[in-house]
Amino acid sequence: MAKKPELRSQKWFNNPDNPEMTALYLERYLNYGLTREELQSGKPIIAIAQTGSDLSPCNRHHIELSKRVRDGIIAAGGTCIEVPVHPIQETGKRPTAMLDRNLAYLSLVETLFGYPLDGVVLNIGCDKTTPALLMAAATVNIPAIALSVGPMLNGWYDGKRAGSGTVIWKAREQLAAGEITNDDFMEIAAASAPSVGYCNTMGTATTMNSLAEALGMQLPGSAAIPAPYRERGQMAYETGKRAVEMVFEDLRPSDIMTREAFENAIVINSAIGGSTNAPIHLNGIARHLGVDLDNDDWQKIGHEVPLLVNLQPAGAYLGEDYQRAGGVPAVVGELLAAGLLPHPGAVTANGRSMGDNCGAVRSVNTDVIRPVSDPLVAAAGFINLKGNLFDSAIMKTSVISDAFRKTYLSNPDDPEAFVGRAIVFDGPEDYHHRIDDPAENIDENCILFMRGTGPVGYPGGSEVVNMRAPSYLLKRGVEALPCIGDGRQSGTSGSPSILNASPEAATGGGLALLRTGDMVRIDLRKCTADMLVDPEDLAERARQLEAAGGYVYPESQSPWQEFFREKVGRFDEGMTLEGAPKYR
Ligand code: FES
Ligand code: MG
Repeated sequence: MAKKPELRSQKWFNNPDNPEMTALYLERYLNYGLTREELQSGKPIIAIAQTGSDLSPCNRHHIELSKRVRDGIIAAGGTCIEVPVHPIQETGKRPTAMLDRNLAYLSLVETLFGYPLDGVVLNIGCDKTTPALLMAAATVNIPAIALSVGPMLNGWYDGKRAGSGTVIWKAREQLAAGEITNDDFMEIAAASAPSVGYCNTMGTATTMNSLAEALGMQLPGSAAIPAPYRERGQMAYETGKRAVEMVFEDLRPSDIMTREAFENAIVINSAIGGSTNAPIHLNGIARHLGVDLDNDDWQKIGHEVPLLVNLQPAGAYLGEDYQRAGGVPAVVGELLAAGLLPHPGAVTANGRSMGDNCGAVRSVNTDVIRPVSDPLVAAAGFINLKGNLFDSAIMKTSVISDAFRKTYLSNPDDPEAFVGRAIVFDGPEDYHHRIDDPAENIDENCILFMRGTGPVGYPGGSEVVNMRAPSYLLKRGVEALPCIGDGRQSGTSGSPSILNASPEAATGGGLALLRTGDMVRIDLRKCTADMLVDPEDLAERARQLEAAGGYVYPESQSPWQEFFREKVGRFDEGMTLEGAPKYR
């Protein structure tokens, strides 16, 4: 083993030039039973960034797993200090958990930077916990390794797999169509959450945990193990051990999360059918590392990559099946076998490369993880749409249904393009108020627009763009209308919406100028989205909007909402805080 590097914790606990401060720093950490030997003898002090709590059910099992992490840290010769992270529960936080991603990031940066810590285990899981912790690790750049809490067991209802989130989107349509009762709805929801862990679908959580492994920040095979499985506790132990070794090897986030690693992650995101929230988070993490990454990269590198993982919402299976088929290493192994992973040499948290870790791994259930020769969908990545409505918006074309394709994309003279009449909603309340009102005269030639729901408009940006069609259309058998917006969509939803439009209406994006009744043209081949409105009319609307004081959005309800709105950037640029990425 190479010579041990100087430990930053020793600047606090063992500084011969400043015995007074050493004494002050030391004494209070002795008061609960730590010994001078643990703090002064060159044992790396490893933080566990604890995201589990009673408020955060998805990550709560980390409280249990951290005991095994701690055992691993001690076994490898380290000292463990568990630190709380600001809670982020996707399903509990109002107005949205996304608002708190940057708050948890800020607070963890201060914790990791300002205290005597040599390395950190990142307790990732529920949607925003993963990017928040990876962003903080990127900024502070001390040796860091992530540990997924793991997905819930498979949910079952009526003899069928009931995937978290995904069954809710389906059930709300059944409820609106009068096919199920309110009690049925609650029962279906509960059935989809059968154990500890995070969403068992390929939603944002499974996506981001898989991508943490794809980036090289978790041990191979760590992402997919369901939370209650014994392997999860064993992985926690190995992760703790490895954290100590990484400090001795001085292996840092900037060594692992390189441009090459992000390119690998984009490819793997397509192969797993990852969430449309992934570009926001990965672009944000990359910014904190000084790595250039934008939505054009996602289209260029990711769009043509086939979908291999057959998980809901795009497919049929759930988390346990994903694990049994081989998880991320099997996906990477299949991509490697077909020559589709761009950078097999990218280094990972165990010190070995992606190619070393996964080259020999194959899917053990080819219906759940397909080989490249037999994919679920040929081109599974995102396209990046542009036009007078916005500079950038993401669409996952692989979830376009046959029915949708037949209704909207079957004009032989203009394939992959459609023109529709805009129905514009200003926020989710406006939508709920108007969607079922027959006076709105919504039909299958309409495109539903949701605006005022970006990072500034609805602080953090809301997952509300996947709007269900009016109940009167659902009853007529029209299942879905095209949806476009400056907000987001839950990764557990399978809607082919056009999302994360940047800039948003609230900061002067083109969406602010759109009016109900305008005709809009979407071209999925040319990747354009435009209002078919005379440029002079648009200029006049812009003048009127400015004279009226700009696009109106609800007032902030807390100090953080106000500070966040003053500093936050666009979705396509990772929704980072202005000024933050320069601290590295
Ligand atoms: Fe926490 Fe889906 S709500 S992972
Ligand atoms: Mg979500």
